Amino acid sequence: MAKTLSPCNFIPLLIAIALPLSLLSTAVDPPEVASAARCDPPYTPNACGIDEEHLPSNGLVGAVDEELWNKAGTPPCGAIFQVRCIEGPGACRYGTTVNVTITDRIQQMVSAPSSPGVRFALSSKAYGSIADPGKDSIKIQYQKLS
Ligand SMILES: *[C@@H]1O[C@H](CO)[C@@H](O)[C@H](O)[C@H]1NC(C)=O
Repeated sequence: MAKTLSPCNFIPLLIAIALPLSLLSTAVDPPEVASAARCDPPYTPNACGIDEEHLPSNGLVGAVDEELWNKAGTPPCGAIFQVRCIEGPGACRYGTTVNVTITDRIQQMVSAPSSPGVRFALSSKAYGSIADPGKDSIKIQYQKLS
């Protein structure tokens, strides 16, 4: 006769089923650490093909590096990222966050960002809301919201 299945035998089985399911249900990516720079206007033309009158009216826009641009298989145009400054006083308004809409790809921006090699180039308004605008780049944590 086969081994008897006591309730204890089901626990690893339940974990094996529940764990992947719980990972699937967390649709949002965990926050990641990277860097951001400031980018002065104009924000058109941009790689997303969004013209001046269709840019978000709050001015909180940004561009991403090649890794994020290519990550999902389609460009993240219109995606909203929550960007949090984590560098500390003197560079950041520490702990402040901003939600930016992606409208461009750093590689194709009209004006160069204040620092090369960053993950995000934020509009001067978005950058200024979380960082000292005089600082060329800051350390950030980011998370895709939608
Ligand atoms: C960003 O969006 C999230 C989700 O809608 C919201 O909870 C949060 O307050 C927003 N943050 C800012 C700084 O607007």
